[in-house]
Amino acid sequence: MAEPMSDLVERYRRMDYGPAPESTAAAEAWLDRHERRFGHYIAGRFVPPAGGAWFTSYNPAHRTPLAEIAAGDAADVEQAVSAADEALPAWQALGGHGRARHLYALARLVQKHSRLLAVVETLDNGKPIRETRDIDVPLVARHFYHHAGWAGLCGECFPGRVPWGVCGQIIPWNFPLLMLAWKIAPALAAGNTVVLKPAEYTSLSALLFAELAGQAGLPPGVLNLVTGDGQTGELIVDHPRIAKIAFTGSTEVGKRIRRRLAGSGKGLTLELGGKSPFIVFDDADLDGAVEGLVDAIWFNQGQVCCAGSRLLMHEGIAERLIAKVKARMGKLRVGEPLDKCIDIGAIVDPVQTRRIADLVARGVAEGATLWQPDCALPAAGEFYPPTLLTEVSPAHTVVREEIFGPVLVAMTFRTVHEAIELANNTPYGLAASVWSEDLNRALEVAPALQAGVVWLNSTNLFDAAAGFGGYRESGFGREGGREGMLAYLKPAWQARLRPAPPSPPPHEAGGAGPAAAGIVAIDRTAKHYIAGRQVRPDGGNSLTIRDRAGRLAGEVALGNYKDIRNAVEAAAAATGWRRSSAHQRAQVLYFLAENLDARRTEFAARLARLTARDTAGGEREVDAALERLFRFAGWADKFDGRVHSPPLRGVTLAMNEPVGILGIVCPDEAPLLAFITLCAAALALGNRLVVVPSERCPLPATDFYQVIETSDLPAGALNIVTGQRAELGLVLARHAAVEALWYHGPAEECAAIEREAADNMKRTWTSGGLAFDWFDPEQTAGEDLLNRAVEVKNIWIPYGDQV
Ligand code: NAI
Repeated sequence: MAEPMSDLVERYRRMDYGPAPESTAAAEAWLDRHERRFGHYIAGRFVPPAGGAWFTSYNPAHRTPLAEIAAGDAADVEQAVSAADEALPAWQALGGHGRARHLYALARLVQKHSRLLAVVETLDNGKPIRETRDIDVPLVARHFYHHAGWAGLCGECFPGRVPWGVCGQIIPWNFPLLMLAWKIAPALAAGNTVVLKPAEYTSLSALLFAELAGQAGLPPGVLNLVTGDGQTGELIVDHPRIAKIAFTGSTEVGKRIRRRLAGSGKGLTLELGGKSPFIVFDDADLDGAVEGLVDAIWFNQGQVCCAGSRLLMHEGIAERLIAKVKARMGKLRVGEPLDKCIDIGAIVDPVQTRRIADLVARGVAEGATLWQPDCALPAAGEFYPPTLLTEVSPAHTVVREEIFGPVLVAMTFRTVHEAIELANNTPYGLAASVWSEDLNRALEVAPALQAGVVWLNSTNLFDAAAGFGGYRESGFGREGGREGMLAYLKPAWQARLRPAPPSPPPHEAGGAGPAAAGIVAIDRTAKHYIAGRQVRPDGGNSLTIRDRAGRLAGEVALGNYKDIRNAVEAAAAATGWRRSSAHQRAQVLYFLAENLDARRTEFAARLARLTARDTAGGEREVDAALERLFRFAGWADKFDGRVHSPPLRGVTLAMNEPVGILGIVCPDEAPLLAFITLCAAALALGNRLVVVPSERCPLPATDFYQVIETSDLPAGALNIVTGQRAELGLVLARHAAVEALWYHGPAEECAAIEREAADNMKRTWTSGGLAFDWFDPEQTAGEDLLNRAVEVKNIWIPYGDQV
């Protein structure tokens, strides 16, 4: 007899999830085959650690040991670097198509072994199998497919660029296999070989991958793994034969690595932490936003660099939204990561669980209100419940610091303006999520957010074709897409650069003034150029400038930190330049060229006396400067971004945004041409500048004030402070509001600049003491320079499914 309807409903209500465990048999068999002990993977085979030291990798869900892992020391790193070095010529000789076939094989291999890789990852890391199976591993495969394409297209798409050589790569534990793919796929596609160190908590999936790759025919030495902790990482960073370091991990370690590499000339990309905003406007689809929030902060237990960990809610909907969030949190299932019905798995290690608990306790002590659903946690293992902290303000520790756990902090805003201000009120700049059904509003807010990635009505979307990476304390460089490939290639002409000859003693400092200098009639002292006006130096001192023959040529203001501060303030106020259209910027540059051309003879004569051999030399430099102004005016409205088509209904806009306030310290060579080249490229793309002209020969730049004054360049877009390069450069490097610094000077000064900029994570480009040929457009006026003048922001725009 049929059951009465009421009984059926009652049975349905009482229905619970049964366990749906994923089998670990294949993973256990793999571990057993290796007798649960793994050496480093060097030159295509497992090698025991030279020093005989091992450490244990645990399953965090049960705190049970999984395997012994080799602890790398200097001898191990040496062996791995040698293997990578030896493999380099043959790997490069394979050519793009040859490498493409290998990368394609790696993609197929990931797909073929996807279940095993997913299970090993979940065992070692504690993340839910649902995520490793459906997100991590498919993204890994996609990354290799995408980069198989780049390998084949490399020569065509990146002409004149060559691989760095042996790359050292250090990855974190939150996405062990995915981070391995993000690192090695572009490196290998570009023709580099690799020494990679997985994080000490999670080495297993990397070891499994390397073994499978070896079996699939990846040549020995192309991919080497050295396992170990931070000390092993430091050995990789310091190794002299490693040409480039790529690091993902904490901001603190990122800064340390940057300091160590200062002045080394090694390439560096850093993908660091974040405290990303998740902004919900009052016109958002609230249920959609709540589901987004689950993916933003409870995905991978919140151990995600781009986790949407700061919920910013329009005040009018805050109460409703919080009620919905709490209801949803109550439905999240925390527990055995291998269970396919689990939403939140284990925290990677007790150290991290303690860190999360400590930060939450601190939040509560500072006045936050804590809410956690009444959810059962497993008795053993590393678990932390989904957590919501309200009644917080921007000053709270939990709002400022990356918690790296399943903890959401929530605040309200009243206006669009306030939302943007709150969102940007963080030293980080990795990602942001914007929820609004009003396209106009969402597309207005996205460019205003200081973040490398912005998701509209979505969150945590990733694709190999779209670059990922941050601004400010979230690091620099992009992974994925074209920008990601560029990070593993360097211009071939760089190898031709030679050390710049030492400059002759440039001047006498100290403000004795023209009268004391006597003998020759000299011009009046050139001032600084700040906020569209010529201004006296704060200290009232000047520098005496000499010409090529050592004769007095003029005097310029001797700048100090206050002059730089004033110039930065002027640049910060000149927001109109950033907002101006590319067409307008081009017009201004053309007009500057026109006005310089009108004074061509005068500038040429000045250069002939100061630096060039003769008038013809002076004319050549002025003509080249004119050509540069035209060139970058031309680029202003052509150096556009791109539209990517990731595998979803929607598009990703890769927008080239100006870096912001840019400091430029000019070289002594070609004092007019270098000054114009650097300024014109940066201005063309909307940056606002604080420029220190050539220390030895600043007069062509100070003469240029009059050209600027007769043009339409808005006040504050270009500020010029004359004086001593090393001193002013360091002030710029330390200044928190200066977003990037280009520095041309002797090697030791460049190293000091890079060290100084490590603390505030400013982007720097230094000459490393090398002399550029400013007349060679390939070196100084090509895409390299333009790339340095922009940040690429990827804005993800998914759209509907009606048509
Ligand atoms: P970490 O930054 O110390 O570790 C990341 C990787 O760097 C690991 O492979 C580690 O062995 C290596 N490493 C550590 N010190 C090094 C050094 N001096 N030189 C070279 N390599 C070094 O991160 P950790 O300690 O595991 O986590 C601490 C906090 O960092 C987390 O709570 C989280 O806030 C943040 N974090 C952020 C990540 C992100 O993707 N943004 C990833 C991992 C951690």
